Amino acid sequence: METIIETKNLTKTYGKSRGIVDVNIRVNKGDIFGFLGPNGAGKSTTIRTLLDYIRPTSGSATIFGMDCHKETVQIKKRIGYIPGDFGLFGHMTGWKYLEYFGKVRGGYDAEATKALAKRLEIKPDRKMKEYSRGMRQKMAIIQAFMNNPDLIIMDEPTSGLDPLVQQTFMDMIHERANEGTTIFMSSHVLSEVEKVCNRVAIIKEGRIATEEKVEDLRKKSGNVIQVKFTDAVDPEAFRMPGVTNPLRQNGYIRMTVSGNMESVLAEVSRHKVAEISIHPMTLEEIFMHYYEGAK
Ligand SMILES: Nc1ncnc2c1ncn2[C@@H]1O[C@H](COP(=O)(O)OP(=O)(O)OP(=O)(O)O)[C@@H](O)[C@H]1O
Ligand SMILES: [Mg+2]
Repeated sequence: METIIETKNLTKTYGKSRGIVDVNIRVNKGDIFGFLGPNGAGKSTTIRTLLDYIRPTSGSATIFGMDCHKETVQIKKRIGYIPGDFGLFGHMTGWKYLEYFGKVRGGYDAEATKALAKRLEIKPDRKMKEYSRGMRQKMAIIQAFMNNPDLIIMDEPTSGLDPLVQQTFMDMIHERANEGTTIFMSSHVLSEVEKVCNRVAIIKEGRIATEEKVEDLRKKSGNVIQVKFTDAVDPEAFRMPGVTNPLRQNGYIRMTVSGNMESVLAEVSRHKVAEISIHPMTLEEIFMHYYEGAK
């Protein structure tokens, strides 16, 4: 399998404070890779390092086998990306902004760009600073997709987009992935990542907590059981191996169970059950599980 992005013990410290620590990730050709983590975890720092906006303190990163710092010019010709900061481009019109990034990439497809603008229902003729947040985000998406790149790197691409546009954007990602483009995106919107990504990495306090196929993560992470009993039952009765955090919530007892469910179900059946549901953890629940584990 062809490796598209690889980081080796990528570390960035800002003065004395942590940015990222020993980040190792590998993104393969064709992946739609979701990069998840709470605020301040290190997503943007990792992405800025990949794009050579900042230099790592130690460790290294490659894209298409080329060094992210030394060969950034060659790399940028083959990638599309959404830079975090639009402040610099405020005075440019939308078209100028697209032209500017087109030059960085050694050209872009004008027809494809027009088609993208039409699809996202935006006219690139106004100054960037005059656009709303969502409109600027649309411009950034056009800019990332316009040169038919082999890899698209995006830091929270859907922030500020309304649900309809988010859906269009998800369709665009699927289409590109089907054509062989590799996608790397950070996000806070877990339901969206769950819909679109085949692999995810979760970053927590600057370190990678897990990197896996979405389907493996789900398999490993177990089930959520929610039970309503006819009589009062102490959630502590379910504190047993494999069970995390049995809690009472709105009259239900809720817990996550990894591995065998028999002993939990045996305990459940000792009481009168009014209602029960069991479902595999969603990515959101898995994420909360990792996130809470950090505290
Ligand atoms: N320019 C900077 N100077 C000092 N510290 C910084 C700087 N940029 C980021 N950091 C620190 O690095 C850590 C990681 O920040 P980063 O922006 O990468 O997080 P993030 O995962 O993108 O968070 P968010 O979800 O809020 O965007 C944070 O603790 C942050 O305070
Ligand atoms: Mg960020």
